Amino acid sequence: MFSTGWHPKLTLEHEMSLRNYSTRKRILVTGGAGFLGSHLCERLLAEGNDVLCADNFYTGTKDNIAHLLPNPHFELMRHDVTFPLFVEVDAIYNLACPASPIHYQFDPVQTTKTSVHGAINMLGLRICLSTL
Ligand SMILES: NC(=O)c1ccc[n+]([C@@H]2O[C@H](COP(=O)([O-])OP(=O)(O)OC[C@H]3O[C@@H](n4cnc5c(N)ncnc54)[C@H](O)[C@@H]3O)[C@@H](O)[C@H]2O)c1
Repeated sequence: MFSTGWHPKLTLEHEMSLRNYSTRKRILVTGGAGFLGSHLCERLLAEGNDVLCADNFYTGTKDNIAHLLPNPHFELMRHDVTFPLFVEVDAIYNLACPASPIHYQFDPVQTTKTSVHGAINMLGLRICLSTL
């Protein structure tokens, strides 16, 4: 039992139950089916947010997020971040990139595109959203 800091005397479960459409944040996690991303999705859901996970399953698997799929506040989208994406969200965590040397050296061009184009596309999305 711990508090997220939304209110010092409320437990995480109480805070979640008090959240509604206006206080619930919509959060995009790219690479959300990976090691770090899947745990981040879990945590963000537990904090009462709507989570959109975008992943092309290059190194991540659906097994990592299978337990989150029944949650109505979780959405999964197969998407490669080297291509532009437009979704309305309040925050973006860009974790899409193979992390272990075996994986990122397997296709160095794709790894570089994911790091560079992926970051540019996510920054572009952020800029688009700030103009809405
Ligand atoms: N694991 C660590 O200890 C650690 C430490 C520091 C930084 N990081 C960084 O955090 C990020 C995630 O690491 P991880 O350990 O979770 O790696 P991971 O390989 O488990 O997860 C990466 C996820 O990104 C997805 N992905 C790869 N290319 C993609 C693309 N083009 N479009 C969409 N999705 C794509 C993969 O399918 C996978 O689900 C990496 O950038 C890594 O460098 C990881």
